[in-house]
Amino acid sequence: KEGFAKSKLTFTPIAPVDAAVDAFTVPEGFTWQPVIRWGDPIFNGTPDFDLNNQTAAAQAQQFGYNNDYTDIVEIPDTKGRRAVLFANHEYTNESIMFPATMPAADVRAVGAAAHGLSVVELERKNITKPWTYVKGAPLNRRYLNNTVYELTGPVAGSALVKTAADPSGGKIKGTLGNCSGGTTPWGTILSGEENFNGYFVSPGTSASDKRYGLTSKATARKWELDDPRFDTRNAGYENETNRFGWIVEVDPFDPTSTPKKHSALGRFKHEGANVIVADSGHVVAYMGDDEKFDYLYKFVSAEKYRPGTTAADRAHNMNLLSAGNLYVAKFTGNSPLAEITGTGAVPADGSFDGTGEWLPLVVDGASAVPGMSVEEVLVYTRLAADKVGPTKMDRCEDVQPSLHTGKVYVACTNNSDRGKPGKEGATEVNPRNENRDGHIVEITETGDQTSTNFTWNLLMVCGDPSTGDVTYFSGFPVDQVSPISCPDNLAFDSVGNLWISTDGAPSGIGKADGLFKVTLEGAERGKVEQFLAVPREAETCGPIVHDNERTVFVSVQHPGEEGSFADQHSFFPDYVAEGATPARGQVRAPRPSVVQVFRG
Ligand code: FEO
Ligand code: CA
Ligand code: CA
Ligand code: CA
Repeated sequence: KEGFAKSKLTFTPIAPVDAAVDAFTVPEGFTWQPVIRWGDPIFNGTPDFDLNNQTAAAQAQQFGYNNDYTDIVEIPDTKGRRAVLFANHEYTNESIMFPATMPAADVRAVGAAAHGLSVVELERKNITKPWTYVKGAPLNRRYLNNTVYELTGPVAGSALVKTAADPSGGKIKGTLGNCSGGTTPWGTILSGEENFNGYFVSPGTSASDKRYGLTSKATARKWELDDPRFDTRNAGYENETNRFGWIVEVDPFDPTSTPKKHSALGRFKHEGANVIVADSGHVVAYMGDDEKFDYLYKFVSAEKYRPGTTAADRAHNMNLLSAGNLYVAKFTGNSPLAEITGTGAVPADGSFDGTGEWLPLVVDGASAVPGMSVEEVLVYTRLAADKVGPTKMDRCEDVQPSLHTGKVYVACTNNSDRGKPGKEGATEVNPRNENRDGHIVEITETGDQTSTNFTWNLLMVCGDPSTGDVTYFSGFPVDQVSPISCPDNLAFDSVGNLWISTDGAPSGIGKADGLFKVTLEGAERGKVEQFLAVPREAETCGPIVHDNERTVFVSVQHPGEEGSFADQHSFFPDYVAEGATPARGQVRAPRPSVVQVFRG
């Protein structure tokens, strides 16, 4: 927990970009280029991307669609010239990916192969040069719907997760709806299975089906036509949906490793998970359930982290997420409700703040929820949490601890239903009815991160002050910030500034989504400065800030998603001109991509 220095990454904030603009906008003095795009070939012998003639076999060896969580980890002993890139592929936009004439069965097969995860090696000549990906590199891997994940923890082998195809209840094919994630202190990647419900047809009648949004309607992608497990009304597959909604752990340095799904971290619409080693040595994972009025969770490992780097230390650390305590957050404000509803003005005591507690769901291997077993708490975590009275939040996305201060930041992206008839109204921690623009909660644990008590305040209440929105930036003058709406993913630079990427600003403040730096400490605490803006109809994901190299990476997800194959709304990132012959590897269509921004 060192003092705060100035970052080497200095920039003049960009002006907000109109949501209709199909451009990737960076500050003066910076340039950008993709690191890898949808369809880029990953293995030796993989065919080049062919927009009009995609096959499932080719897509299975190419970079997938809608990359969200992304990290770049340097490979040791390569003098900074080699790294491994991880990206997940949350979902697909078939209507802009494929020609309308493509047979439906082919659309399903190629779309399925564009889901999952990718690991790809990167190289550069030296640390001042941008990265390029290495086709055919030894660590390259695609994780697909037939990749087997080992279920760890108390639910492994439980009757709740057994199916006809997996009587062991411990070997799960595929990962779905991967949204955000985190990189662990031991160098593995965590990824959250978020909107898995959209891939299944279910009876839709049980309490858990209803609580997880599982219905009997045909799914958008209709994979149930090809594989019986995607319709849980089929005999033998009743439990298939219980095998999704977990935190996944991947070792990007071992392409033969078996990825894991960690049942001890609970099952919900996981946005992601971010881990910190507490002073006690236990590791703590913070996790949001991204649904209106759902909850904030944390996991505390039973075992302690080993800082050594031997194979035995690493193997030990890679088991830390399979056993531990699970908690859900309850926030209490300290200002009268009447003063903070309606106008959204700052409370009488000058800040949105109060105290909180972590309510136990599983402690020391035992259920803390009356009437539910440990397995039931972990599989039906939403139902378990409902019983203990946590705070209904405005869609928790990334929840990330600062390694500089130990404080934890929670991105509440928005909640259009707060305060609507029959719905819970504003409280001090979710202070706006019909919350369009979202806010950021800052949590200070009492003691280390294993504590069950905390204090909290809001770092910011988002919006566009220049259009009269009532906003709050920890007291920083509202006329000196970049407008910001719908915070989603969080990252920190090397000196402890917070970086926020957004998803939904076009429908909030009418501006393109982007990436923003927020000063957390000193006189400029609360100052928001926009670093980049993404193209038309895209969201900004997976920010990585390598400020010592003056380089920033983001994932650009779903550019042009409201268009059609015949009427594309975005041409990012290739921007092939109309009528021009594309260069090799380029196409005239939007491609979700990982982008690097650097001086030059
Ligand atoms: Fe996939 Fe919560 O955003
Ligand atoms: Ca207060
Ligand atoms: Ca997200
Ligand atoms: Ca989002």
